Amino acid sequence: MKVGVLTGGGDAPGLNAVIRAVVRKCAQNGDELVGIREGWRGLLENKFESLDRNSVSGILHRGGTILATSRTNVYKEKDGEALVIKNMKEKGIDAIVAIGGEDTLGVASKLFKAGVNIVGVPKTIDNDLSATDFTFGFDTAVNVATEAIDRLHTTAEAHNRVIVVEVMGRHAGWIAIYSGIAGGADIILVPEEKYDLDEVCSLLQKRHQAGKNFSIVVASEGAIEKKKNGGLVLHDQQLDSFGHVHLGGIGNYLAEEIEKRTGYETRSTVLGHIQRGGTPTAFDRVLGTRLGVYAAELVHNKKWGYMAALKGTDIVAVKLEEATGELKTVNKNLIDVAATFFG
Ligand code: F6P
Repeated sequence: MKVGVLTGGGDAPGLNAVIRAVVRKCAQNGDELVGIREGWRGLLENKFESLDRNSVSGILHRGGTILATSRTNVYKEKDGEALVIKNMKEKGIDAIVAIGGEDTLGVASKLFKAGVNIVGVPKTIDNDLSATDFTFGFDTAVNVATEAIDRLHTTAEAHNRVIVVEVMGRHAGWIAIYSGIAGGADIILVPEEKYDLDEVCSLLQKRHQAGKNFSIVVASEGAIEKKKNGGLVLHDQQLDSFGHVHLGGIGNYLAEEIEKRTGYETRSTVLGHIQRGGTPTAFDRVLGTRLGVYAAELVHNKKWGYMAALKGTDIVAVKLEEATGELKTVNKNLIDVAATFFG
């Protein structure tokens, strides 16, 4: 069988571990590989490259993706679905391994329904995909954010400041809650629970009156304010090809408001794409490798329309549509654990 592999959406540390595992296991199974460049765009525009043992040698520890990525939506392109099917046929591709998040796997799910032989591997630093307990990339992002919070603690304390740390995660607060708990944040704001600025400020005041002269606030980019119109802070008004808003700016917004209301000198730090770049943690390399090997087995066994997923400590097959059905958000128990340490 000739198998095409692609990576779509925002990159996540561990993508190269998955590609390497798919290539090595497919080769062992006697399947031939072809790399599809830049996600779904590669299938629309015939961007292919050969993939063999040599091309995946030395990539396990590298961030990014050797296949490059894009947020191309097949279903936003004129006759996109038909074009994908035609190009696959012309290139002799029998099946596809799509490595991606909600959007990439959503396209995969639709293509599967249109008759394309496809399996998926879940990916996102946001950890917001249902049907899998963790996505690779998340652990690396949490470690980067935790290290940043540790570093911000010392400078905040030295200057008697409040520092607001803005982290990624879109409409789920996984990165914020994990890095905030691990880094000992004094307040963590997540999209799952709307925040009230007066309450945030009074928690900070309580802490400072009790003798502390600095505070760390971790804010998820998608956190929503109770009173504010719309509630979300947007970077701009543009939507991407999957209809997502462009989040960003909550760190600055909160820092200004906190300083204005409390009088405490406040700064903000936006971690941004640093959370996605660079070398994956050992956890993400192992998870990516396990998912990639499993996806190659799904291909070999012709289990089309499924993706590899982590359930507990096992890798299992789940239907693609289950993965993209609903967002996996932070549960109340975890928020309560974090809140024990607020203020
Ligand atoms: O989905 C991953 C993610 O990193 C989000 O956390 C973030 O909002 C978004 O991608 C940023 O996307 P872009 O790569 O378009 O800046």
